[in-house]
Amino acid sequence: MLVVALDTSTDMLACAVAAWTPGRDGARADVELLASRDHLCRRRANVELVGTVQTALEDAGKHVSDVDAFLVGRGPGSFTGVRIGISTAKGLARGANVALQGVSTLDACAWTAWRAGVRGLVGVAGDAMRGEVYPALYAVEDEGPRRLFERERVVKAAAAVEEWADRADRGELQLTGDGLVRYGRLFEEAGLMARALPRELWWPSGEGLLLAAADTGIGGGVEAGDPALVLPIYTRLSDAEENERKRLGLAQSATSEVTGVADELAGRHLQLRPMGSADVEAAAALDDACFADANHAPWSAQLFLSELSDDVAAPRSWWVAHDNGQIVGLAGGMVVDTDVQILDVAVAPERRREGIARKLLSHVSYDAQMLGCTSASLEVEAGNEGAIALYEALGFERCGLRRGYYGPGADACVMVAQLPLVLPVDAASPEPTAAAARTWPLSASARTPEERERIAARELVLAIESSCDETAVAVIDVDGALLANQVSTQIDFHARFGGVVPEIASRKHVEVMVGVVDAALEEAAASLGLADPIAPSELACVGVTQGPGLVGALVVGVAFAKGFAFAAQKPLVAVNHLEGHLFANKLTTPDLEPPFIFTLVSGGHTMLVHVRAWGDYEVLGETLDDAVGEAFDKVAKALGLGYPGGPIISRLAETGDPKAIDFPRALNSRGDYRFSLSGLKTAVTLYIENEAKAGRALHLPDLAASFEAAVFDVQYKKAKNALRETGAKEYCIGGGVAANPHLRRMMIEKLSRQGIRVTVPPTNACTDNAAMIAVVARERYLRGEFAELDIDADPNMTL
Ligand code: KG4
Ligand code: ZN
Repeated sequence: MLVVALDTSTDMLACAVAAWTPGRDGARADVELLASRDHLCRRRANVELVGTVQTALEDAGKHVSDVDAFLVGRGPGSFTGVRIGISTAKGLARGANVALQGVSTLDACAWTAWRAGVRGLVGVAGDAMRGEVYPALYAVEDEGPRRLFERERVVKAAAAVEEWADRADRGELQLTGDGLVRYGRLFEEAGLMARALPRELWWPSGEGLLLAAADTGIGGGVEAGDPALVLPIYTRLSDAEENERKRLGLAQSATSEVTGVADELAGRHLQLRPMGSADVEAAAALDDACFADANHAPWSAQLFLSELSDDVAAPRSWWVAHDNGQIVGLAGGMVVDTDVQILDVAVAPERRREGIARKLLSHVSYDAQMLGCTSASLEVEAGNEGAIALYEALGFERCGLRRGYYGPGADACVMVAQLPLVLPVDAASPEPTAAAARTWPLSASARTPEERERIAARELVLAIESSCDETAVAVIDVDGALLANQVSTQIDFHARFGGVVPEIASRKHVEVMVGVVDAALEEAAASLGLADPIAPSELACVGVTQGPGLVGALVVGVAFAKGFAFAAQKPLVAVNHLEGHLFANKLTTPDLEPPFIFTLVSGGHTMLVHVRAWGDYEVLGETLDDAVGEAFDKVAKALGLGYPGGPIISRLAETGDPKAIDFPRALNSRGDYRFSLSGLKTAVTLYIENEAKAGRALHLPDLAASFEAAVFDVQYKKAKNALRETGAKEYCIGGGVAANPHLRRMMIEKLSRQGIRVTVPPTNACTDNAAMIAVVARERYLRGEFAELDIDADPNMTL
């Protein structure tokens, strides 16, 4: 087998190509190194990785189509570095339809030392940034390094120094790892650097990755391994989540602290968040309602409280789902070594079948995975077929019976699942996809020559979008027919923070990318009346959003797309997200032709644009401060309405009077195309405060309608002026806020009356999606405007 190994978790871009002979009967595989291109490359991993893989293959006299499996370092290391390596590797493996396996980067470091002849006690200190390291101890023997720890973890560098300096065998300890670059002084001061390994061994090598994989035979060896299932090793939650946990753990009040959302409005949508101490009474009541007839005792408030205390030995993760000010579900688990034991799952009887248990379990297992777990286990009453079926749908398998677990004659069925759990691609849909249950690699589809020809004639363009909090993939054909349009939204995971948390967004993109691509390839095949999903090799090109957006989110899509395009041997097209919002209008009006005026109103941008020709954009004005969508989100947050604000406010505004409150219209003079929304936001906040001081209850529908009117009046007036000034006869709009029914209606009615043809994109193509990216990618494909495989994400792209 030909295996390519890569790792960008550290400043080392590790890359090697090897001939791999699987070991028989559990014996170690044999690795013959054919080429290696390890080199230090700080902050340029996404630029250099695919090119380096190509060069290493050339060195070995091989081609990407010869590769049988990829191997990737899963960290721990720099979060972005790990994600670049893993996303690229997922793209490579999915694009080539071959296996992907992951190995611990720390293990690879230990094997790198072993390969250099090091024997004895070795301490790897991986750099975790911010004063922290990932400490890992190995007994390196002739047969190879043996782990002296269970799970990867992160600690303060000083704590690692102390821990190791306290060891009786400290005199034998040989240090390595890239943490020594930054924190070597600390180790030096404790007298631990005397036996440090030579500096060139401080990083993982490609060969180290291969040796580590050959040794563990993880998941049945490199010949098996689904790219959807390989995930980074992080060892900690995002800062936002850590802080939220601390805050909730301390919250004592049982009133609005319970939900963090004004009670009367929390019901606008179901939200999930970690359980806090203020929740324990409600949690116990819910558990009681769920398990009153069960054989086991419900959890008491006291018991829940003890779970949340800092004193518990094993890490815990407890989540609640709340709606309408009520806790309607809860789930929790305890981390034991690499397994998360699910302790309790309860959903209010009247809220079953909405996928709430699944969402809760996804959060618990997600936390556990971040803490190094690879499996989940639980006990369920043997006769409870409904619950057993739910768990089976999530990938749990029955693996035994515990007789009398719940008392005499009441047996428990023990179930286990590999992490990650099988989850619905679309968090809103209760049906899980089959992605994780499949066998990988996919068997070659049996296409007839007629089918093959039919697919080739359609010149299918696959497009990937990951600039913010939606992972989206679409397929369009050469005539512009949309054949697949998949979106996996992360809103659930960001809602309780009142906005998108970049670190969470990046993590979720890595998790769902392959699943969303799979779903799009299946949907496209179904649209063409084909049973087997479209194969990467059957596409004409691969498009991806290059920017603008959150850099950590963009890199996941860009790295994946580059690996995918290279492995499938298809050209790559880079797409500007803002152009995507513009081109979404072509889904409604295919014959849309410049010159026209375009309004872009999204969460990140507010622009009025004179489109003189395709690609020739005169930006007439932009916002000086907040974007329109941002203003909606901030106002909703100030009102405690949750996130995202746009849909919530527009629903409220339905029954409100837009003239009830006279909010300011900024920069409202003719000829001025700039926008400013911060003044309006302040006016709304002041209004809320004043009403509260005066003891008056807010009339939310009037407030929402008046706020919308203030925003949209300005949008309309400036668009009208721009149309008049340029003489354009066409108008269109795009971005998340363009989904707003009042804005759409206003533009269509008022501008049409003046003889302007108005186009609005389909509602689902306003908020971020890949259909719009596919429309742009198709145009560029037709013009032969391809991107090189060394492009990086560009968070600051403009029109
Ligand atoms: O285009 P988009 O999905 O993401 C960016 O590229 O920024 O826009 C998201 C924004 C959010 O701020 C959201 O509140 C807003 O679009 N939005 C709306 C509506 N639906 C989404 N704003 C007003 N009315 C809506 N119905
Ligand atoms: Zn957008």
